[in-house]
Amino acid sequence: MSVTAADSAAIEEAGQLIRAGALVAFPTETVYGLGADATNGRAVAAIFEAKGRPRFNPLIVHVPDLAGAERIGVLTGAARKLAEAFWPGPLTLVVKRRPEAGISDLVSAGLDTLALRVPAHRIAEALLRAADRPLAAPSANRSGRVSPTSAAHVADDLGGGVAMILDGGPTAHGLESTVVDAADEARVHLLRPGAVPREAIAAVLGRPLSDAPAGDTAHPASPGQLASHYAPNARLRLNARDVRPGEALLAFGSGVPASDGPLINLSPRGDLVEAAAGLFGALRDLDKSGAATIAVMPIPEHGLGEAINDRLRRAAAPRPSDR
Ligand code: TXA
Ligand code: MG
Repeated sequence: MSVTAADSAAIEEAGQLIRAGALVAFPTETVYGLGADATNGRAVAAIFEAKGRPRFNPLIVHVPDLAGAERIGVLTGAARKLAEAFWPGPLTLVVKRRPEAGISDLVSAGLDTLALRVPAHRIAEALLRAADRPLAAPSANRSGRVSPTSAAHVADDLGGGVAMILDGGPTAHGLESTVVDAADEARVHLLRPGAVPREAIAAVLGRPLSDAPAGDTAHPASPGQLASHYAPNARLRLNARDVRPGEALLAFGSGVPASDGPLINLSPRGDLVEAAAGLFGALRDLDKSGAATIAVMPIPEHGLGEAINDRLRRAAAPRPSDR
């Protein structure tokens, strides 16, 4: 699949493709998304097909602004407060859906809620306006693989079924949006750590996030949170303080152990923002080195470290093929 420079003519054409029911991959400030008209059930089904994604995994709906979100979802007071603080930006809010708004049932996999987000990216916003439709868009990778942070990653992962890949260069955050369930005002809780740290959300709410309700593991509240996800081909060995023969090293900060294999340091100066931006690209590059295992140095758990460690633990989790 070829990649198209996202000039205004290409964005116009992409908008028409979306209205005609086709799939368009586009950049956001987090990762590249694979977009379809959220009101067109066949187009949404084509996303699952192109990604090889299990049907039970619901999608985020992207809108250009808060008014667009209010038209398809019911924002609680807490949801509106968070939207005003973080939109446009890398926060996704789960709220009750408006059944009359015409969003395909496939988008939320039968749930009575919708995950909504206003991306902070010039090309994403221009595409939303050109298409004049809410865009259902998961990350533009094959299901279970690391999310794409460049147009080339999308082209590597997804072939047929995608009408156009809009190239907007590398993404700024490199991690997916934070997903917060704000459907119930009294129990606003984190479904997926991401580019907005938990601490920043709590500061806006004026209270810590609630604990997630105890869900059963067969039906997790955010079904995308399956244990093995974001997986490269190589195995991951976390909290590594040394490098074993044949291993590649994903380093962070100073005190990097000696090794003669492939090495990428996510941030020599120990900056979590820089580390998040480079994480998925580094996993792809170390994977290409052919090493069977990637040793990963410890990464602190605060701020963006929560989301980085979440992705690393999923990448290290036992794979379905191991069972
Ligand atoms: O940064 C991002 O969020 C990127 C860009 C493209 O916007 N998108 C993304 O989408 O990461 P995806 O489909 O890979 O992840 C969506 C997450 C999943 O964990 C999914 O289960 C959750 O959002 N989700 C979607 N709808 C939901 C709903 N109604 N209730 C609970 N969780 C939901
Ligand atoms: Mg994804």
